[in-house]
Amino acid sequence: MFSALLLLPTLLPLFSHVLADAADACNQIKDALSEASDVYDSVLDITGHFANDIVHWAASSTQIPECTVEPGTAEDIVTILRIVNETQTPFAVKGGGHTANPGFSSTTGVHIAMFRFSEVTYDEETENVILGAGLYWDEVYEKLEPLGRMVVGGRVSGVGVAGFTLGGGYSWKTNQYGLTADTLVAIELVKPTGEIVTVSEDSDADLFWALKGGFNNYGIVTRFTLKTHAQPEQIWGGLTIYTSDNVDAVTAACAGFSASVTDPKAGIISTYNYVLGQLQVLQLMFYDGPEPPSGIFDSFLAIPHLISSVKTRTFFDFVQSSPSNLTSGGRAVFNTVSLESYPLDMIDFIANQTQAVGSKLSLHSGLFISYDVEPFLPSHLSHAAEGSSAWPPTRAKGLLPLNLYYAWGSDLADDVVFDAIRESAQEIYDYASGEGGQDIAGFPVYPNYAIFDRSLEDIYQGNIAKLSEIRARVDPYNTMALAGGFKF
Ligand SMILES: Cc1cc2nc3c(=O)[nH]c(=O)nc-3n(C[C@H](O)[C@H](O)[C@H](O)COP(=O)(O)OP(=O)(O)OC[C@H]3O[C@@H](n4cnc5c(N)ncnc54)[C@H](O)[C@@H]3O)c2cc1C
Ligand SMILES: *[C@@H]1O[C@H](CO)[C@@H](O)[C@H](O)[C@H]1NC(C)=O
Ligand SMILES: *[C@@H]1O[C@H](CO)[C@@H](O)[C@H](O)[C@H]1NC(C)=O
Ligand SMILES: *[C@@H]1O[C@H](CO)[C@@H](O)[C@H](O)[C@H]1NC(C)=O
Repeated sequence: MFSALLLLPTLLPLFSHVLADAADACNQIKDALSEASDVYDSVLDITGHFANDIVHWAASSTQIPECTVEPGTAEDIVTILRIVNETQTPFAVKGGGHTANPGFSSTTGVHIAMFRFSEVTYDEETENVILGAGLYWDEVYEKLEPLGRMVVGGRVSGVGVAGFTLGGGYSWKTNQYGLTADTLVAIELVKPTGEIVTVSEDSDADLFWALKGGFNNYGIVTRFTLKTHAQPEQIWGGLTIYTSDNVDAVTAACAGFSASVTDPKAGIISTYNYVLGQLQVLQLMFYDGPEPPSGIFDSFLAIPHLISSVKTRTFFDFVQSSPSNLTSGGRAVFNTVSLESYPLDMIDFIANQTQAVGSKLSLHSGLFISYDVEPFLPSHLSHAAEGSSAWPPTRAKGLLPLNLYYAWGSDLADDVVFDAIRESAQEIYDYASGEGGQDIAGFPVYPNYAIFDRSLEDIYQGNIAKLSEIRARVDPYNTMALAGGFKF
């Protein structure tokens, strides 16, 4: 993880100018911040703050910054943004650190970690909850569950509230209530021009729209206000692992589920993995109540499995027990295809891709190839009005996001793996739109699954001009362009 450090002595002459500026920015920030905030400037920091601030789910998303900052107030974020703008210092904003895109929440300059924004404040009158932008969904679920309330949030343990929400948010609750961004009531935002504002439909409808999909283009979010819904005390769900000899049966069950189940409380993720030369399926099943009605999951339950943890339990327990860090510490990248449906031949093609790419790349050490089939209901985007958010640019069709995820060990393999995941997404698109007969030309792709160099056109389509206009109004000096990500 610290291999970048070893390179520093040889690269130092080249970058000493940049580093000196960043060091100056760090010193200015240290001097200007209130007691609520702290700056850490050494990888050797024995308190662990520096390491915790920069760490990501994927090692390839971590860089060594000049310093890390843990702001404790929105006012201190105003100061940080003023200084990085004045000194033109590259910076990063990290929420839960779960992006698989290098440089999206990391930097060699000033690294802002949002952990200190950790409030979970439920309002009984409005039934809304205020969430700090430094939270993981686990922390939110743990606090809301005893109140009998829940939000539309992450599906597995460890994912951050901020990036997830600002990119859309596909949840176990999406069939019932929409994307996480669809449940937003207000966003507290530090604008790059130094104002701290609460953005809502009433206060600034355009900016509110832009933030629902627009990530860090408009400033730094400190708090989200989300709608909540009643949470049944017990849900049903868990993980079942099927080995290669049963993969065809799982594919048939998955296609059957996708074609016939209309109960919005039911959800699955079928994850096709290539691991140690074998195809396997990790099957997550979820029902938002203590027992699913018979018929919904029967075909999965009838298939012989390796192990299964499916049972009646609390929602928080279910999310915590889901596999989220299988390759924790490795390098990782995502990519995505938006499909219209998941019929048998489509899922079979995806299973074949898993096998084919896995064996093709197996020469590269520690490789792990994974495809998440996520059959949401065709109606899942109808919980918010057409044109109510920057993403998706159209809700006319219930596009289904397929997530591709590859993990590997050595940075020497980066380009080979990036090429392979782009090529596989293209092959799946070509099959679906060709032989598969799916009418997916022009489907937008999901930004939280898109590889770093997907075009803005692929993601935001006809919304790019409006997103850029709002960016020019809110961030006239283009300060947020000093942070990585998809940029308007
Ligand atoms: C194991 C795993 C499971 C996942 N499961 C799901 C899932 O079920 N559904 C789904 O939709 N997605 C899922 N994702 C994708 C996830 O939504 C994205 O990776 C998301 O961006 C993570 O948010 P984060 O805050 O953890 O990430 P970060 O890496 O911290 O941030 C991501 C982006 O958001 C920006 N950002 C972060 N905080 C702020 C802020 N306060 N203000 C402005 N910009 C900010 C960052 O600058 C960065 O560009 C998963 C990812 C992983 C690795
Ligand atoms: C950002 O920097 C520009 C150029 O140096 C400067 O004109 C502007 O006032 C700065 N903006 C803020 C909000 O400090
Ligand atoms: C993976 O997650 C589990 C549960 O959250 C945790 O106990 C474990 O330490 C994690 N493993 C790694 C390698 O991070
Ligand atoms: C997947 O591979 C199998 C075995 O090689 C083949 O019979 C099948 O037609 C393939 N499926 C698709 C959709 O290409």
